[in-house]
Amino acid sequence: MPYHDVGYIALLEKVIKFTKPYGIVQLGDALDFWQISAYDKNPLRKQTIAEDAQIYKGILQRWADLLPIDGVIHQLEGNHCDRLRRYIWRNAKELAGLVQTVPEMIGLRDLGIRTVWHPLAQWDSCKIGDAVCHHGHFFNMHAAAGNLIKYPKSLITGHTHRFQYVSNGTRFSCTLGHGSNETETAHQPTPTGWQQAFAILSVNGHKTHIEPVLVHNGECVVYGKRIDV
Ligand SMILES: [Fe+2]
Repeated sequence: MPYHDVGYIALLEKVIKFTKPYGIVQLGDALDFWQISAYDKNPLRKQTIAEDAQIYKGILQRWADLLPIDGVIHQLEGNHCDRLRRYIWRNAKELAGLVQTVPEMIGLRDLGIRTVWHPLAQWDSCKIGDAVCHHGHFFNMHAAAGNLIKYPKSLITGHTHRFQYVSNGTRFSCTLGHGSNETETAHQPTPTGWQQAFAILSVNGHKTHIEPVLVHNGECVVYGKRIDV
């Protein structure tokens, strides 16, 4: 928030209704905290951190309501989510511990469903079968290929806004695109190479399989069915 693509979110909700998953993993950077970032900000934008958090809280609640009663939401911390802690430590360290944390701000404990917060610093916190979901740290044109070598597990990340998938036959590495409004989030006037996407994970035995789904203009194809907003 607030650079999310509302069309992408609406599409996801249709996909959740169609696929009926057991759980959802949000790969991080759900809150941008642009108000306290070092990047230039649009002075016409007046929305507060609290308002951004409220919007995401509403989205989480809708997701929770779509999941089965024994379902789970895994919320990963992204580097943008971590901006609040860094800001307080730098500018008002006396208030550390007094200001709400991100999980508190988004009401993660109040969704009526099991939820798990995964800190950015703990790369293997979110295990799904034999794969790990992490927000991601490395950022270049070949992040997925680099991660396949660097990490000992199959790995699913966000962060790069690009879609990349590589496998060595036993493990895979995937950077899973983004769900933002590209025209508002891109900082440079060049083609971004970004791709909206999500994936369906299934665990067979101990082995995790990934089915990436690419989103173009509010449309995607899941299990052969075209879904749009
Ligand atoms: Fe990020």
